This record gives sequence, C-alpha cells and structure tokens, in this order.
Amino acid sequence: MRYCAIRAVMAAAVLAPCAAGAEPQAEVLHWWTSGGEAKAVAVLQQEFAARGGSWTDMPVAGGGGDAAMTALRARVLSGNPPTAVQLKGPAIQEWYEEGVLADISDVAAAQNWEQVLPQAISAHMKCGGTWCAAPVNVHRVDWMWANAEVLAQNGIGMPASWEEFNAAAEKLIAAGITPLAHGGQAWQDATVFETVVLGIGGTEFYRKALIDLDEEALGSDTMTAVFDQMRILRGFVDDNFPGRDWNLATAMVMNGEAAFQIMGDWAKGEFLAAGKVPGEDFLCASTPGDGFLYNVDSFAMFDVGAGDAREGQEILAELIVGPSFQETFNLAKGSIPVRSDVSLDGFDSCAQLSARDMNAASDDAGLLPSFAHGMALRGAQAGAISDVVTAHFNSDMSSEEAVEQLGRAIANSM
Ligand code: BGC
Repeated sequence: MRYCAIRAVMAAAVLAPCAAGAEPQAEVLHWWTSGGEAKAVAVLQQEFAARGGSWTDMPVAGGGGDAAMTALRARVLSGNPPTAVQLKGPAIQEWYEEGVLADISDVAAAQNWEQVLPQAISAHMKCGGTWCAAPVNVHRVDWMWANAEVLAQNGIGMPASWEEFNAAAEKLIAAGITPLAHGGQAWQDATVFETVVLGIGGTEFYRKALIDLDEEALGSDTMTAVFDQMRILRGFVDDNFPGRDWNLATAMVMNGEAAFQIMGDWAKGEFLAAGKVPGEDFLCASTPGDGFLYNVDSFAMFDVGAGDAREGQEILAELIVGPSFQETFNLAKGSIPVRSDVSLDGFDSCAQLSARDMNAASDDAGLLPSFAHGMALRGAQAGAISDVVTAHFNSDMSSEEAVEQLGRAIANSM
C-alpha cells in the first residue's frame, strides 16, 4: 500500500515541469574512500556538477560497506534517508520491502535500460516490476593480484591450482616474504572464502552451497576441504593482519612486502591510482578454478518526495547508466562497464580478461553472484556464513567443527 502511494507521488513529480531556478540536489551515501575509489566517485561528482547538480557527499569508510549500511539504517529510521545510496543485490529488495525506495522507471524507459543492460543485472535493479536502482559496474571478486618483481625473483608464476598456490607460498616464506596480504575483517575473510569454495568445489557446488544454501553441500566433505584450505591460508598471512583495511593489504603487494592478495578488482583501482602498470608492476589472474563471481555496484534511490532532490535522483540515474560515465568511472574503479555496448579498447589487460571470462562463464552457467559482497543472499544468511568463516579463520577451530557450525548458523537464520 505504502509503495503505491510513493509511486503516485513519483509519477506526479515526473509529470510536473521543473520549477524555474531549481537546483538538482543529491546527498549520496557510499563507502568509496580509498585512493582508487575516491578517484572513481569523483567522476560522478564532476558529471553531476556539470549538469548543475549540487552534491552532498556522505562517505562512510569501511571496505565492503558494513559501516555504510549501519549509517543508512539510522538515517532511514530517523525518517531522513539520503537521496542515493550505494546498495547491492538482495539488499535493494530488502529496502524496497520496507517501502522506502523511489521509482526511477521513467529514466530507465527514456534510456532504454531494458535493452542496454544484461538481463541478470537488470533483475537486481527492479523492484516489483519497476526500476529502483541504477547499476554502475561489474566487479569480479575471484581475482588474485601479485607483485611482478617478487614473483620473478622467486621463480614463481601465477598459480593455476590451490596446490600450486600453497607451494609458492611455502617458497616465499622461506625467502622471508609474506605470501598473502590480508586484512582480518569479516568481509575480507568471506571474500577469500568464496573464492576457495569456487576453486575447490566448482561452480555447481558454489551455487548449491552459497546461493541455494543446500544442506547437503554445506555439510559435505567438500566444505570440510574448503575450511582446510582456509586454515592453510591463515598460515600465509603476517602477524599484523587483524583489522587491516583491504587497501593497506594492496599496498603491501605494491611495495613488495607481500606477494599476493586475493581481492576483487577494486584492488586494481588502487594499483592504478598509485601509477602501477598491469603486466609490469603487478599481475592479475583469476583465483584457481572455473567460474566468475560478480559483484555489481549500484545506487538505489530513496523516497525523498518531489522537488530538487527528486530531480537530482533522475540526473544521477541517467548519468550512471550513460556510456560516458560507464567508461570513465570503470577505468578508475578497476571494474568493467555494465553495458555491453561500451568498448573495452581503452581498458587494460585485466579488464579485458574479466570481460572474456564473464562471457565464457555466462555461456556455461558459471556466472555466479558473490556471497561476500551481498549479491547472492539476504543479509541474515550472508551474515550467518561470514560469522562462521571469521570465527574459524581467527581461532584453531577444526574444519569439521566449522562445517557443523555452518549448518546450525544457516538453520537458525531462516
Ligand atoms: C564494493 C566495491 C568496493 C569494495 C571495497 C565492495 O563491496 O562493491 O565497490 O570498492 O567493496 O570497499
């Protein structure tokens, strides 16, 4: 009922001519605060300003967006939501169900989003048949980044299997180099975990375990093997890993203190922002195994009534999906454009590999939503899994115990 009322207000706002002298406004909540991220979000700020918009920035630091989501909840509960919010996957639907999202179908229709966006991505942006969010990019999560010189000096190539990774790591330890740059934060543990689930279990297992929450898959020997590998990886991080931000872990790879990082391609945004060149200073390869874990950033528009803020929302939505923003933003962010009609000619080899692998994966059912980045599951279930993953990573819990806890946590979260 509440949603119908919002739609009626929005429809009226869309039909009404803009008041003379109106200044489009946007208060934008996001968590893009690292060097590469800040460069990328500046593209949107500049394009918005060029359209006469006034941008109020609401950055909430904290990789993965957990802190930003807490800040969002407080704002919505106080009846004063931001205009546009970096929001992803099922969380968009969760907010829609609370009756607080605006309808941007008019922009989507005018820009023909139905045609220019891949169907799998559009599905996340639609709420009950209307459009409620604008997609920014496609980040890939199952990436491994490495310091090219450190690898060359130690006679190591990019590992094609987890066994190869483990062997390379032992060699690096013997040479006094931290094999894996990692930050001990729940979302980073979950990021590594999902790449191991994909690599050891394969695409079908990933789907069953982390999308369908299939009891058998969650309690299987394969899942035990995944936790075994997590335990091995725990031995490859340095002592100062707890609480470290992801971009500081990327910096460890940049300066040769560590050899590898397992992280989505926002890490490439950091390398690029520091002037590093892919293929020369740093290397990229997918983590061992098939498939492609996608993480689509998007902005959901909150119901802010008619007026300047509504106008701001429409301009933002239009800019975000526009081809020029898609190219400039993604060059800085490390991701690839969400539109398939934007040329990748100006993009680097890692981006080109990402696009190739994404197409190949979508042909053989290997294109999978990232659980760690809020694309696969609702908050309660995703939280239940990452709690267990983190508890295991930060203790001497056995793999068997972790698997048991996983089953219980999922059952309790339903
Ligand atoms: C977001 C990225 C962001 C990363 C680190 C991910 O969940 O999708 O845009 O750069 O978190 O903060």
